[in-house]
Amino acid sequence: MDNLEIIPLQPAHLEEATQIHQQYLSPSWSLANFKETLECSRSCGFAAFIDKRIIGFIIGRTIDCEAEILTLVVSLQWQKCGIGNNLVRILLDTIRLRGGDRVFIEVNANNQIARKLYNKFDFRVISERPNYYPPIPGFSRTALVLEKIFL
Ligand SMILES: CC(C)(COP(=O)(O)OP(=O)(O)OC[C@H]1O[C@@H](n2cnc3c(N)ncnc32)[C@H](O)[C@@H]1OP(=O)(O)O)[C@@H](O)C(=O)NCCC(=O)NCCS
Repeated sequence: MDNLEIIPLQPAHLEEATQIHQQYLSPSWSLANFKETLECSRSCGFAAFIDKRIIGFIIGRTIDCEAEILTLVVSLQWQKCGIGNNLVRILLDTIRLRGGDRVFIEVNANNQIARKLYNKFDFRVISERPNYYPPIPGFSRTALVLEKIFL
């Protein structure tokens, strides 16, 4: 995709990022949640742009040699174009450069698309958290904790 640009997520992107997040994820984050997360020096995020409009982003956090992916979303119109894949790859590369040797992510047990994406990066289920999410029609209440170990 020629006009795709992936750059570090900046405070100026957060209003748009919040709107996208609220459209596709529940429970979703508030603008204050995003600001607070991005201010932390251990966090890092990347935003995908097409024609100067943000169409997806990912945020992670590293603590010593452990890291976690905190959130990932791509606008519906641009899903299935490899953007999620690109965002995960760039974040994992950054975590590796920061000295991370394992990465965790929590994912809804029903979220087959996200599970498939993480599976491609060799994330494996290490535990289940029943009743983790509030009841939302069509969604499982169970969170799966996935782990990737850099070899
Ligand atoms: C999960 C998500 C980020 C994936 O983003 P994406 O840009 O569509 O991902 P990609 O295009 O890189 O595709 C990744 C894989 O998922 C598959 N996929 C993506 N959307 C799909 C869909 N609607 N139906 C079936 N498969 C789908 C792709 O085919 C691809 O697998 P493949 O390479 O074997 O073909 C996106 O679906 C999304 O934002 N969902 C809502 C928010 C969410 O669930 N975030 C994850 C929280 S942990």
